[in-house]
Amino acid sequence: MHPDMKVELAGLALRSPLIVASGVLGSSTGLIKRVSENNSVGAVVTKTVTYNPRNGYENPTAVDLGFGFLNAMGLPNPGYLDYKNELAELRDKIEIPLIVSIGPSNSEEAAEMVKALNDVSDAFELNLSCPHTEKLGLEVGSDPEKVRSITASTRKYTSKPLFIKVSPNVTDVVEIARAAVEAGVDAITAINTLKSMAIDVNAMKPVLSNTYGGLSGRAIHPIAVRIVYELYEALEVPIVGCGGVYDWKDAIELILAGASAIQVGSAIAYSNDFKIFNDIEKGVNDYLVNKGFGSIKNIIGLAHKC
Ligand code: FUM
Repeated sequence: MHPDMKVELAGLALRSPLIVASGVLGSSTGLIKRVSENNSVGAVVTKTVTYNPRNGYENPTAVDLGFGFLNAMGLPNPGYLDYKNELAELRDKIEIPLIVSIGPSNSEEAAEMVKALNDVSDAFELNLSCPHTEKLGLEVGSDPEKVRSITASTRKYTSKPLFIKVSPNVTDVVEIARAAVEAGVDAITAINTLKSMAIDVNAMKPVLSNTYGGLSGRAIHPIAVRIVYELYEALEVPIVGCGGVYDWKDAIELILAGASAIQVGSAIAYSNDFKIFNDIEKGVNDYLVNKGFGSIKNIIGLAHKC
């Protein structure tokens, strides 16, 4: 028996539940094309694009702490108008859904970006959760009213599937997600990184040029599981689990907590030629076979029924 690994996610038909998380491949459309050729990859989320071009922060921008990565790139990107041309070329070359991550700072920017990018994307993911950028990301995404107005404005100009990536750095993540759902998102991606810092004890100063960064990888996995579980209890909306997925067990945990699909990010850094997607998909497949489930859909949220 081969369990059905296909997923229908907010109107997107995915051949696999595994999605490349935003940011890990930078803005490189070449890498996106390459990863899309891996049959275990169901969709790709682009690096977040902003209204204005951004250079990003000075080096050092990332450090491997062993239990996770600490990074503050500063959302480097060429701005939505320039990136549009690259995305247009890419869209024709890949066969899986391309989810464009956008990081507007207000509803006017959201409207302009979505209008311009609508034809070159299969879906949008609103990044209102980057934990270290002024007037962007978490600075807007921690306020439910700003989340509501940015989401509503995005929704107004696209009928494509709309996701929002939420932050763990808030008191009540359900309140933020609920505001987004009420304003029209189709799915929630949980979670972005945790605001963190590291200090170099020899240099006696912060490791990152930006002082603060976002922690991803292994260390944040239990937090992602908790938040996916909470969102599933509170809201009737598909959830994409994201945070410290390194192997099939991490993916299964998030699915049992309530995720319909899984984003893989930091762990890609340790993987040769994106083989991690094949390994996770095989592990999930074997788990379903061993447990006697015919489809991945059958185990979504099962941990809530125990
Ligand atoms: O620094 C960065 O570009 C990170 C982005 C994010 O966490 O969303």
